[in-house]
Amino acid sequence: MTETIIIDTDPGHDDAFAILLALASPELEVLGLTTVAGNVPLATVSANARRIVELAGRPDIPVFPGADRPLLRPAMHAHDVHGDMGINGHDWPPPRHPPEGRHALDWMVEALEAAADHSVSLVPLGPQTNLGLLLRRAPDLARRKLRRIVAMGGAYFQGGNYAPAAEFNILVDPEAAAIVFGAGIELVAVPIDCTNLALTPESWIPDLLALGSETGRACAGMMRFFQESGNRMHGTTTRPLHDAVAMAYLLWPELFTGRLCNVEIETASELSLGSTVVDWFGRTPRPRNCLWITGCDAATMYARMLQRLATLP
Ligand code: BDR
Ligand code: CA
Repeated sequence: MTETIIIDTDPGHDDAFAILLALASPELEVLGLTTVAGNVPLATVSANARRIVELAGRPDIPVFPGADRPLLRPAMHAHDVHGDMGINGHDWPPPRHPPEGRHALDWMVEALEAAADHSVSLVPLGPQTNLGLLLRRAPDLARRKLRRIVAMGGAYFQGGNYAPAAEFNILVDPEAAAIVFGAGIELVAVPIDCTNLALTPESWIPDLLALGSETGRACAGMMRFFQESGNRMHGTTTRPLHDAVAMAYLLWPELFTGRLCNVEIETASELSLGSTVVDWFGRTPRPRNCLWITGCDAATMYARMLQRLATLP
């Protein structure tokens, strides 16, 4: 059984690994990529998304640019982690094809209209602005056509990574995340509670180089850059590929543990804006709206990821 997905993304080194993993996996049918301003501005993430599908030998996968800023707040980027172009570390050629001329939101609505009920999953790997817009513009369509949402985002046990109490994807657009988490659609969150513990193996860069392919070289170069900036910041020796961990959940849920609980988004407090408040112990009667993932067999996951990346050109 394949799962049909739309990847909403802001590449981003770990987004790149997630997209490559999806394109290398026969269990996933990727309808298209939608992009959102996040790690770097919209025009750059859209060009990067094209670079990645072309690297994977899949220029047929369409890339639709979406929101160029959060719903209510000014744009926020993560150049300190991802560099000026977002996927620094490899000598990327310019994309051979431009992104599609249509807005991601229009395309998502059309793609869902054409889909069978409960047949498409959304995989947001960046700020959730495009999903928030979709759920405001076509809430009934989304509820009818979507199978589930599997998102990389959030932090509870791990505090935060872009603010003391907030993870980047939620912090950038907390209002959009509040719409997504409140939509009543099956939702899985892969937060940094899980991904921060899923560090890549120490041998990851040589392993990628040993693939001997252009994909292996690009991935090794990206990983070197991503690891250097992250290690400086966090005092680590390897880094987790957050978004790729979320994609791995779609492929290998048996490697993950978590709990179905209530999760709400803080949108008011200056101190903890963008925090994901998880009712882990079920202390409130609020609905259990989210499967909150906390654990992962990282060694097996990265070994399987490497096998998949080895199938790309
Ligand atoms: C998330 O923030 C971004 O910088 C990464 O691409 C990932 O989606 C991790 O907090
Ligand atoms: Ca991302």
